[in-house]
Amino acid sequence: MEKIHIEQIRPDLTWRIRHMAMYPELPYQTIKLENDHDGLHFGLFAGDQLVSVVSLFNEETVYQFRKFATIPEFQGRGYGSLLLQHLINYVSPLGASMLWCNARSTAITFYAKFGFSETEDRFSKTGLEFVIMQLQLNN
Ligand SMILES: CC(C)(COP(=O)(O)OP(=O)(O)OC[C@H]1O[C@@H](n2cnc3c(N)ncnc32)[C@H](O)[C@@H]1OP(=O)(O)O)[C@@H](O)C(=O)NCCC(=O)NCCS
Repeated sequence: MEKIHIEQIRPDLTWRIRHMAMYPELPYQTIKLENDHDGLHFGLFAGDQLVSVVSLFNEETVYQFRKFATIPEFQGRGYGSLLLQHLINYVSPLGASMLWCNARSTAITFYAKFGFSETEDRFSKTGLEFVIMQLQLNN
């Protein structure tokens, strides 16, 4: 079994995995966020290989994670769960009041397992359905 570790990474290290996992059919540039340099980025490594990434942004005590992605051939092995739990454990002691995300409809049950609940806010973009999901913290 390869050693797993999670660390903070540079923003540009997230781009390749975002593209592969989320929008392989769109041009590479589209997966970059204008405010990537304002975010904190976390990566999960299996051995030496970066396989799962997520990006965190906040306004005061409200935190949003974006562009959560695992390389397709590494999906379904529990890496995303480890990374999401890491994120929750990271923001809680910072005094976060809430962690939220724009959840793809395909990921709703996954986030629900971590205590996220669906809000009324739904939208579609680039042919995908999204719902805002949120996890209350420190309340
Ligand atoms: C969502 C994502 C980041 C989760 O990462 P992951 O490393 O697959 O996470 P896990 O292995 O912990 O699995 C998460 C869930 O997805 C399921 N899953 C995801 N991809 C899978 C695959 N290719 N094969 C089997 N199961 C898969 C797992 O069974 C698990 O569901 P469960 O908790 O109900 O059992 C990853 O699947 C991904 O990159 N998906 C495409 C991009 C995306 O949808 N991002 C989230 C946008 S909101």
